Amino acid sequence: QKLDILALGGDGIGPEVLEAGLAVAETVAGRNDLQLNVQHDLLHGAAWDQHGTFLHDETLARAKSADAVLVGAVGGPQWDDIRVDGGPEMQDGLMRLRHALDSFAGLRPARFWAPLAERTPFRPGVAEDADIMVLREMCGGVMFAQPRGQTLRDGVRYGYDTAAYDDREVSRIMRAGFELARQRSGRIVSADKANVMESYKLWRQVADEVAGEFPDMALTHMYADNCAYQMARDPAAFDVIVGCNLIGDFLSDLAAVVSGSLGMLPSACLCDVPVVGARIKGIYEPVHGSAPDIAGQGIANPFGMILSVAMMFRYTVGRPDLQSQIEQAVERVLSAGIGTPDIGGTHATQDVADAVIRELAP
Ligand code: NAI
Ligand code: MG
Repeated sequence: QKLDILALGGDGIGPEVLEAGLAVAETVAGRNDLQLNVQHDLLHGAAWDQHGTFLHDETLARAKSADAVLVGAVGGPQWDDIRVDGGPEMQDGLMRLRHALDSFAGLRPARFWAPLAERTPFRPGVAEDADIMVLREMCGGVMFAQPRGQTLRDGVRYGYDTAAYDDREVSRIMRAGFELARQRSGRIVSADKANVMESYKLWRQVADEVAGEFPDMALTHMYADNCAYQMARDPAAFDVIVGCNLIGDFLSDLAAVVSGSLGMLPSACLCDVPVVGARIKGIYEPVHGSAPDIAGQGIANPFGMILSVAMMFRYTVGRPDLQSQIEQAVERVLSAGIGTPDIGGTHATQDVADAVIRELAP
């Protein structure tokens, strides 16, 4: 089996963690008779400096023909204030990439790692079993819908966005949520603000309609504010949580607390509903940003990237067993006390990647 990967390191620590992730990917592929065909290209700031655009059309064409796209991280102060013509997706190479690939299903798993227990704010016994999958809608909602802008109204400055979803956007993200629930505990929470907003009333109606196709799954509706409160109190009570682009953004950062460090969190943006056994195109990237404060020092935590690579093996290659192998290797490396400074360790990015690769050895 052959896999075409487009590797976009991006900015700051992005290329550093990507290199670690690719080394792990090559190791796993080599042991499992998989051939990786990796092409490298530029994204966001790195692309701007080279081409004067955050995502070159040729890079996008490569992304469209690849099986999977691996992304390090993007951004940095030198590019943050640049404004280019076009909609919100044109201001950011990663947003444009997600939008152009229509990678609507943002999977953001967050789990408890016993060796990092002390880096979480939870009392013993509260978060031990926490294993949350936040599913964030990535291509619609208030972050993309029109109209949006800033204007003068009756002499006052006025900024506005539009919260909007159509039924197709809601039903496909709900289907993704139910399919994930089916592969996990069967429980799914949909977080909305249907008490006060029309777009969420539609969201809730469509969620109930889709639930009819999954009679064996247990759907609970929660208002997003209460959901945040309950997650902070009792994270282990949750499994799949599905939300719109905005609510999913907030709740995935909140869920991240159970992992002990931002650097531990992987993500996948899938272009289709992850039915069991399917091979789906996706963008795989750690949740963290480009961390300009530590870039170039070789101390970035690569686990988020490595766990994103593990998700690629599950969802694009269709091999959940390889995801488990990588996760178990990560767990053993953490238990051995190997880690970067952000999780209390003294090791470099490269040392951590080497340790994971050693643990993967037969
Ligand atoms: P950040 O995630 O880059 O950094 C926040 C803090 O966490 C920093 O102290 C950083 O050193 C630390 N950190 C992050 N990842 C780490 C890792 N792997 N290992 C060790 N420490 C790590 O967020 P920040 O500082 O708000 O944003 C920096 C830039 O990144 C901005 O330009 C922002 O727009 C961009 N950004 C990009 C994202 C992406 O590429 N998906 C996501 C979030 C921010
Ligand atoms: Mg966020």
